[in-house]
Amino acid sequence: MSLQKLYYHLENTYHLHSISSLLSWDQETYMPEKAYEERSKQMGILAGIIHQKKTTELREVLNDIDLSVLKGNDFLIVKRIQQDFEKWSKIPEKFAVQLSELTSQAQFYWDKAKKNNDFDLFSPYLEKLINLKIQEANYLGYEDCPYDALLDDYEKGLKSKDFENIIQSFVKEFYQKKSKNPLKNNPFFINIPALEQIEFANRFIKDLGFDFTRGRQDLSSHPFSNAISIHDVRITTRVKENDLQYMLYSTIHETGHALYELGLNTELIGTPYSETCSLTIHESQSRFWENNIGRSLAFCKFLAQKLKEYLPKYFHELNPDEIFLVLNYVQPSFIRTEADEVTYHLHIAIRFELEKALINQEIKVNDLPHLWNEKVHDYLGITIPSDSLGVLQDVHWSAGLFGYFPTYSLGSFYAAQMYLHLKSLFPNFDSEIENGNFEFIHQWLKKNIYSKGRLYNSNEILEQATGKPYNTNAFKQYIDSKIVF
Ligand code: CO
Repeated sequence: MSLQKLYYHLENTYHLHSISSLLSWDQETYMPEKAYEERSKQMGILAGIIHQKKTTELREVLNDIDLSVLKGNDFLIVKRIQQDFEKWSKIPEKFAVQLSELTSQAQFYWDKAKKNNDFDLFSPYLEKLINLKIQEANYLGYEDCPYDALLDDYEKGLKSKDFENIIQSFVKEFYQKKSKNPLKNNPFFINIPALEQIEFANRFIKDLGFDFTRGRQDLSSHPFSNAISIHDVRITTRVKENDLQYMLYSTIHETGHALYELGLNTELIGTPYSETCSLTIHESQSRFWENNIGRSLAFCKFLAQKLKEYLPKYFHELNPDEIFLVLNYVQPSFIRTEADEVTYHLHIAIRFELEKALINQEIKVNDLPHLWNEKVHDYLGITIPSDSLGVLQDVHWSAGLFGYFPTYSLGSFYAAQMYLHLKSLFPNFDSEIENGNFEFIHQWLKKNIYSKGRLYNSNEILEQATGKPYNTNAFKQYIDSKIVF
């Protein structure tokens, strides 16, 4: 009886979360510009109600439950919720409201600042946000440094010194690596009106398995995937009319997130049984589809077919080998989301070092643009022409997501391990992909990743799925198998 009461309570809280997600999706897509202040109040009020549910009210429900008599999934669920409760109850309600209001406002100003290439429009909000995040780290507690307390939100138990070792070993191995020969022809550089691009993208991701009866795709400044609820997952993309790859690969990335959300268990909603595991596993799914599958030669053959079929006005003769070379061309660039699979992680190293220094109060917000440009020059050897193409490019900081970036690299490394394992399991892997048969992959992911919910941690899920603990060499091996430096 008390367990049912807990599940009922969690489901109610989950529905409130859905409402909040819907408001945030609306803000990023269709909300009229001048509504942003009201919206930030609405988000704040909801954040307060949700906080009450997750702390004061949850305490009462949890008090009636004896963990020691529970078994199986019930035991795992309650154990997780108890851990969540410990963490949530360290945060005062007033603080949760304040943070929610501020992130809603900061995103509005970040968007404006990025469009106008004006860092000063955003910096006062960023400064306030960093102060709040430092306060949050102090509430949560930490051993070595405040930044560790924030990392824990995205990958439980991850410490900055561990990630530093992982990313530095990557930097050492791949620093200043470039593809050998120059590119001759990029078939994606072609003028296609935005509407036709979106129409193509919608047909294409349906082929990948995106279910439009349970989701949709719209436009936004920064592409994202927002799981409103179990049967309503919304992704966004953005378009450049003279570069199809820009839109397409971001769409495939978000589709990977959406497939994960849409493949979760549909029972015990609002509990860790039907939730995603972590941001690392989440990004492993998006990066898996975007890169491991999406940039494989077999997929290029499938893509060439679909481009000719769905966009016959623009594509006649296409050479999959040429597409493969374009998609796997390694060279330093300004924008993280458009970076190749190798230099991508140098972008992550830059953000990780800067946000760690911000939260640990080693650098100041006003120094960010120049420190950013310096680091990009160090790591990537290129000169940033404007803040819009530099420090302002990502939405994360404006949304208060400090500690998120490492999960992109970890997720990519996990994805490479899953990919190599899948290829060894299925001898016809490439020919199935070439023919657009992704069902066997969906089934494997459903069984080994999606259905595990949040009952295990990221490493446990990876190890159960691939039979091996996390190993960075998988990524190195994967890159060596496809890219010639
Ligand atoms: Co992502």
